[in-house]
Amino acid sequence: MISTLPAAPGVNLSRLRLDVRNLLPQVITWRRQLHQYPELGFQETKTAALIEAKLREWGIDYQAGIAQTGIVATIEGARPGPTLALRADMDALPVQELNEVDYRSRHDGRMHACGHDGHTAIALGTAYYLAQHRQSLAGTIKVIFQPAEEGPGGAKPMIEAGVLRNPDVDAIFGLHLWNNLPVGTIGVRPGPLMAAVELFSCKILGRGGHGAMPHQTIDSVLVGAQIVTALQSIVARNIDPIDSAVVTVGEFHAGTAKNVIADTATLTGTVRYFNPALEGAIQDRITAMIDGICAAHGAKYELDYRCIYPATINDPAAADRVRRVAETAIETPLGIVPNCQTMGSEDMSFFLKEVPGCYFFVGAANPEKGLAFPHHHPRFDFDETALAMGMELFLRIIESFDAA
Ligand code: NI
Repeated sequence: MISTLPAAPGVNLSRLRLDVRNLLPQVITWRRQLHQYPELGFQETKTAALIEAKLREWGIDYQAGIAQTGIVATIEGARPGPTLALRADMDALPVQELNEVDYRSRHDGRMHACGHDGHTAIALGTAYYLAQHRQSLAGTIKVIFQPAEEGPGGAKPMIEAGVLRNPDVDAIFGLHLWNNLPVGTIGVRPGPLMAAVELFSCKILGRGGHGAMPHQTIDSVLVGAQIVTALQSIVARNIDPIDSAVVTVGEFHAGTAKNVIADTATLTGTVRYFNPALEGAIQDRITAMIDGICAAHGAKYELDYRCIYPATINDPAAADRVRRVAETAIETPLGIVPNCQTMGSEDMSFFLKEVPGCYFFVGAANPEKGLAFPHHHPRFDFDETALAMGMELFLRIIESFDAA
């Protein structure tokens, strides 16, 4: 079916969609190949080799080995225009796959459980299409294959290696296949799409002793319990209720026996928020509370606090462009989810801090086909028709700069 919405000047809706649909079986093959050989962050050597082989085959210029396993492909159009970047992450997770499909992971304990195999396949398909259409392409497209999104983060070292320069990137776009949305929809919004993530680990140093003689001890369990409770007041009482934030204590380890007061206790947790102004603010409150509660009990502490990724913040004009483009590509009545936001995090955020752009979600769940498990689940899989949607959106975004 062809969209009933009017095409932007120079955009042939039916032709592009047909080309993408013809390309889809090939893109599914690449995705399944990648799915069978998942690799963790900065170890994506087979993945990179597959990408390089395809780029060579198609005569696309590229630079490999950026931030260890990253690749940037550059497709120069025959006509002048902006330099745009598309970003795809390549890494998998330390998850044991439980799907019983013929393309299941052949790497024990590793799995593409977040859909990054799909992102890489979409980027490859898009690069292939662009290389076939250089004559009509205006400007230069950099396709960034990024390692280690799941950690420790490949975006920052790629930026430091200069992937956004020479030629300088005017705008960047990226997508995540998203099982929180049904296939045939997209999620996009201006401003913050995904949260900043910070992680902390705190070791409370008390003084252990006999469970019956607490007066001779400094009970690290009691100190830890008060810290856990106190930290929950930060979001409730220190953050503007209009802002959203999370403080989660994920681990609390202490003690060895019922009748022994624990010498030490270890708490770990994560902090999430959208508003960049909160950077440092929650960390300060957590530090002050741990410091004060420990001091009150005569305990000491060691705190390791790390800011991992900033919030993923879309440029309003770029987000508006993606929304307008999506209106021509989405045909289901569910359409575009305008205020899609998640407290999940992404290192696409680093690219978006450098150049304007937009990150968006491409609905990929299909409960009727049993494809609706959440991301990072051992049975995660997605509706592969979403790969066509991803390619079409990327290509239409690029075309929209020409039509503008
Ligand atoms: Ni992911």
